[in-house]
Amino acid sequence: MTESSANSANLENHVTSGATVWLTGLPSAGKTTIAYELAGRLRDEGHRVEVLDGDEIREFISAGLGFSRADRHTNVQRVGFLAELLARNGVKALVPVIAPYADSREAVRGRHRKSGAPYLEVHVATPVDVCSVRDVKGLYAKQAAGELKGLTGVDDPYEAPESPDLRIESQHQTVQESAASVYALLTERGLA
Ligand SMILES: Nc1ncnc2c1ncn2[C@@H]1O[C@H](COP(=O)(O)OP(=O)(O)OP(=O)(O)O)[C@@H](O)[C@H]1O
Ligand SMILES: [Mg+2]
Repeated sequence: MTESSANSANLENHVTSGATVWLTGLPSAGKTTIAYELAGRLRDEGHRVEVLDGDEIREFISAGLGFSRADRHTNVQRVGFLAELLARNGVKALVPVIAPYADSREAVRGRHRKSGAPYLEVHVATPVDVCSVRDVKGLYAKQAAGELKGLTGVDDPYEAPESPDLRIESQHQTVQESAASVYALLTERGLA
């Protein structure tokens, strides 16, 4: 097999329609869980997928940033930059990152619009009372105990998207159902 026919054989096994799917929502809303569930399904079907998780990003490319408005904005712009690079190169970039400010999210959307890479905003709209019971990382308990200040949705702003591409009420769904609704959105837009 020549090199070029090997390349095209490779491409046949891959779905190359890139897109960014940003999952925004409160801590413990279900963003990471849904992203990995969806990633598994997409990979099984031959999509190239990367999950840009908030925690990993903050350990590495956003190390040193804190949780002020300015730092949160910078963090979201960095992740948005990476996601757009991936999306325009045929990768599904799944981004479970809180992104509490509407103008930060809008800037990311704008950069995608400029390059033509599809961008979908999914609001994982689990209410704060459900999130604070889930409290996967113990942040709500810490905030309540006065050990942490500036928790998104409690004593720090969360600007809920006004017109997301999809809104998920995870408190009424299984993880699989939530992931399936994002998958259905991708299908509807011709991306899966
Ligand atoms: N339909 C659902 N979708 C997603 N998660 C769900 C759902 N139902 C229950 N859960 C549970 O909610 C929790 C969500 O935690 P997860 O770490 O995904 O939140 P997160 O939004 O990524 O939070 P953080 O911003 O702190 O990283 C998990 O324990 C998950 O099993
Ligand atoms: Mg998470």
